[in-house]
Amino acid sequence: MSNQIETVLKQEQLSEQDLIMLLQSDKIGRNKIFTHSSKIKSDYVGKRVYYRGLIEMSNICSKSCYYCGIRMDNKSAKRYNISDEEILKAAKFAHEKKYGSLVLQAGEIISPVFTKRISNLLKQIKEISNNELGITISLGEQPDEVYQEWFENGAHRYLLRIESSNPDLYYKIHPKNDKHNFETRLACLESLQKIGYQTGTGVMVGLPFQTYQDLARDLLFMRDFDIDMCGMGPYIEHVDTPLYQYRGLLLPIEDRFTLTLKMIALLRILMKDINIAAATALQAIDPIGREKAIKVGANILMPNITPGMYRDDYKLYENKPCTDEEAEDCTNCLEMRIGITGDDIGYGEWGDSKHYSKRKEL
Ligand code: 5AD
Ligand code: FES
Repeated sequence: MSNQIETVLKQEQLSEQDLIMLLQSDKIGRNKIFTHSSKIKSDYVGKRVYYRGLIEMSNICSKSCYYCGIRMDNKSAKRYNISDEEILKAAKFAHEKKYGSLVLQAGEIISPVFTKRISNLLKQIKEISNNELGITISLGEQPDEVYQEWFENGAHRYLLRIESSNPDLYYKIHPKNDKHNFETRLACLESLQKIGYQTGTGVMVGLPFQTYQDLARDLLFMRDFDIDMCGMGPYIEHVDTPLYQYRGLLLPIEDRFTLTLKMIALLRILMKDINIAAATALQAIDPIGREKAIKVGANILMPNITPGMYRDDYKLYENKPCTDEEAEDCTNCLEMRIGITGDDIGYGEWGDSKHYSKRKEL
C-alpha cells in the first residue's frame, strides 16, 4: 500500500480510483501524502498564510439545510443582526491590524433592502480602508444582478460551498424544494465565476451517507470547475437539526478530522496554486486543527472578528471555538499559533488566489 501511494503521487494526473485509494490510506500512507502536499504548497504558493477577518454579520436565515444550527426552522437559535456601525468598527480593526482582507458572512437573505445594505457596507469598507482591504463575501444564493451589483461595489471574492457535488447526497442533507436546489447552487457558482469573482467553494467532510467515492468526485468537481479558492471542513452534528438523527452513521469525530486533512492535502496536490482555507470547524475538533491544515496545504486563515457578544449565537455546529473571545485576544493567539507551523503571515497583503491571476491571463 505504502509503495503504491508513492507511485500514485508521482503521477501527473490522479484518477477517481487513485483518490479513493489515497483517501483510505493508513497512517503511514497519509504522512506520505502530507509530505508531498506540503512541498507543493511551499513550491507553488509559498509558506505564507493570509488573514481574512471574518465578520458573521447576522444569523437570520431563510434556508433550512438539515445540518445547520442557524437554519430557519431552528426556533431555539437566538437571532441577531449586527449594526452597520459595529461592522465598520470590526473592519477598521482588521485594517489597523493589517489583515489583508475581510469576509462578510451571513445567513441567506434575498431582498432589495439587504442588497442595498451590503452595497453600502462594501463602499464604506473600501472608503475607511483607503481601498486597502480586500473583501470576500459569503452571502449565499442570490440573483445574478445582485452578484453583479456587489462586485461593482468592491467585493472581489465569493464563497459559496457546493456542500456535496453529488446531487443525491445534496438532497439527503437539504430539503428538496425550490429554496434548496442543487442546479441553482451550481448556476450561482457559474454566474459568480462569469462575473469575475475569485470563486470559492467547498464541501463538508464526513457527512452521514457520504462515501469515499463522493469525496473523490468532490475533489474532481473542484478541479474541473476550476475554482480559485476552497473552504472545506468536517461535518459536526448539531443537536437542533434534522441530520442529528443520523449521528449513528458517522465516522468517529477524529476520523472526520483526519479525512478533512487528507481532502485538503489532495486538493493542494490537484490544484497547486489555489487558496485553501483552514476551516474553523477543524479547531472545534482539535485545538491545533487549523495549524495542522496549514501544514498539509492550507494557506488562508479566517480569524473571527465578529464582536464577542454575538459570537456565541452564530452556531452552525456544536463546540464552535473562541466564541467567548474578543478580536484583540485572537490576534495574539493566532500569531503564536502560526509560528508553530513554520509559515509566516502576509500582513497587509491581499493574498489573492494565484490561480485566479493565471486564469485571467489566459
Ligand atoms: N458542520 C460543519 N459545517 C457546517 N456548516 C453548516 N453547518 C455545519 C455543520 N453542522 C458549513 C456549511 C456552510 C458553512 C457556512 O458552514 O458548509 O456552507
Ligand atoms: Fe443553509 Fe445554514 S441554513 S448553511
